[in-house]
Amino acid sequence: MDGADVEAGNDFGRRPGEEAVALPGRPDAGVHFIGRIRTPWSLRGDCPKNGLQTDAVCIVHVDPLYAAGLKDVEGASHLILLYWMDRAERGLLVQRPRHADGGRGTFSLRSPARPNPIALSVVELLSRDGPSLHVRGLDCLDGTPLLDIKPYYATTDSRPDATVDRSGLSRT
Ligand SMILES: C[S@@+](CC[C@H](N)C(=O)[O-])C[C@H]1O[C@@H](n2cnc3c(N)ncnc32)[C@H](O)[C@@H]1O
Repeated sequence: MDGADVEAGNDFGRRPGEEAVALPGRPDAGVHFIGRIRTPWSLRGDCPKNGLQTDAVCIVHVDPLYAAGLKDVEGASHLILLYWMDRAERGLLVQRPRHADGGRGTFSLRSPARPNPIALSVVELLSRDGPSLHVRGLDCLDGTPLLDIKPYYATTDSRPDATVDRSGLSRT
């Protein structure tokens, strides 16, 4: 990490007040990456914070080994994508997001830094070209590994009344 990385927002290092643990040596389970996501962003500073901040069309390349699993996927207008934030720190449990004035628990945040750096987005499926999906609504760096694809059901996945109350947050 050099000065240019910090300038570009690629500094995944610690901020004052943040707390981290060393993860256990042996994981409890393994995953298979099923593909890679191509996006316009190679620098964290350029990357949208969520999929609604951009209109960019991204391409989800599914590995040929898993391509048969895409059968019938076009039936869904929207998909849930799960992906692996491969460039994130993993031990951070209290974080200081740039927008916050205190430390926040990792599990109260959508930050990519977490013990299992799994991210999700609901994307609009624009088209399918063989094993590649053209989608809108992603917020990940170019080359991010893909973990899973599921249809998004507005009837069961949507909670229009859900809220997040930040008023009683600790400032520590
Ligand atoms: C706030 S997270 C939200 C991710 C996902 N939408 C979620 O809610 O789980 C999005 C940010 O993660 C960072 N990021 C994107 N791809 C990454 C990767 N492959 N490794 C580490 N950090 C990444 C970028 O800073 C991006 O703005």
